[in-house]
Formats: sequence, C-alpha cells, structure tokens
Amino acid sequence: MQLAYFHVAADAPEKPMPDAAVVIDVLRATTTIAWALHNGAEAVQTFADLDDLRSSASKWNPSKRLLIGERGGQKLKGFDLGNSPVAVVPELVKGKRLFMSTTNGTKSLQRVREAPMLLTLSLPNRSAIAKRLLREKPTNIWILGSGWEGSYSLEDSLAAGALAAFLLNEANGLVSLVNDEITAAFSLWNQWKHDPEACLREATHGKRLVGIGDHDADFKCCADLDSLSVVPSQKEPGILVPS
Ligand code: MLT
Repeated sequence: MQLAYFHVAADAPEKPMPDAAVVIDVLRATTTIAWALHNGAEAVQTFADLDDLRSSASKWNPSKRLLIGERGGQKLKGFDLGNSPVAVVPELVKGKRLFMSTTNGTKSLQRVREAPMLLTLSLPNRSAIAKRLLREKPTNIWILGSGWEGSYSLEDSLAAGALAAFLLNEANGLVSLVNDEITAAFSLWNQWKHDPEACLREATHGKRLVGIGDHDADFKCCADLDSLSVVPSQKEPGILVPS
C-alpha cells in the first residue's frame, strides 16, 4: 500500500483516481460525520454547494432529515445544527439523513467522490480506518486534508500522520510513504502523539474556533484517539454510511 498525503484538495492530481481516498477534516467535519453515523444517522449526504444541498433536502421527508453545517465555523442560517461533533446526539440524529455542507471538508469529499473506495478519517476513528485499509489492501491510497480555504492544516496533517503510524506499526512491510507530505505528517504525529488536543488548540483553525464561541468540548471530542469503531464509507456519490 502506497500512502500519499495532500494538504488540500487542490494539491491532489486531477487523474487518475487512487484505489482509495481517505478524507480528513479533524476540526470538525469528519469528526462530526463519525459521531453522527456512530449515533445512528441513516446517512450523511455531503454538498460543496448550498443550493444543491437545499434542493436535495427539500425532496426528503422533513421528519427524517437534518440540515447541518457551517461557513467560517458559524452555523448556517436556517440549518438545524452547525458542525459540532458533540451536537449530533442520538436523540436528534437517529434514523435521519444529515444534509451537510462545511467550509472546506465537503469540498475535499467532492474532489475524490469518483474514487472506488472513499472513507472519512478523524482521530476518534483512526484505528478503524487503518484496520479497514489493512483488510482491503488498496494499492494507491490518497489521504486528503481539508485545510482552511486552500491553506495548510496542522490538525489534518496530525491525523494523516496518526494513520501512517498505525499502518507502519501493524504492517511495516506492506506500507510505503510515497511523498514528503506524508513523511512530514508522520514526524508531526511523533511530535504531538502524547497530547493531540494540545496540537488541535495550537492550530490556527483551533484558535479561530476559540475566537468565535465556546467550542471547548469540541477539542476533547476531536482529539479522542481511537474511541470510535465506525468506518464512514461512500456508498453513492456524496452519500456516507457506516460500513
Ligand atoms: C471545515 O470544513 O473547514 C470545518 O469543518 C469548519 C468547522 O466546522 O470548524
């Protein structure tokens, strides 16, 4: 398995698609997706474009849908929830389809929706994703960060390094790091693995979240390594389900 990491969607080659794509948006979209599916959501349907989201959601039974998402970290007007992983509790999401759009994460998902295997990674489901990759053994794997409006993201690189560390530890002979970005991410993980939450708080987006409201619970949740077994997988373009 050849691991390549791209900091943001625009850095990934146009074609051909890899055998597997793993999308990361630690603060907070892929953590929210993991918790929503863990808590019983029927699916998370992601949209880069808000008009497309509203059009699709309008065709869904209102009692069986939630609109979730943000721009700039702030909940979107008229949406049911923002993008906090601690807000997608079972009593709200169980059995419902979540129509989701975020500033960066859903753009990364859009970029690789043609990949034959598309999974979403957060720190809570890091080992679950790694074990799925070890089971399926795709040859070329793109790990795709989300960043912030085209810029590098410390927290997404941390998670990419955490995934690489697990895979190298479990199957060293089977895994190779094939670009400098994944090698740097692996080193970053070794630097911060003893306190991932501190890394999230050091990140510029972490500081942005602190500045726009009380997101303290989000940091602990987003840093909670290997605490979920859910593997969000794309079953149809844009539609993520537990697998
Ligand atoms: C993103 O898409 O950049 C994030 O999920 C934004 C956030 O919710 O903090």
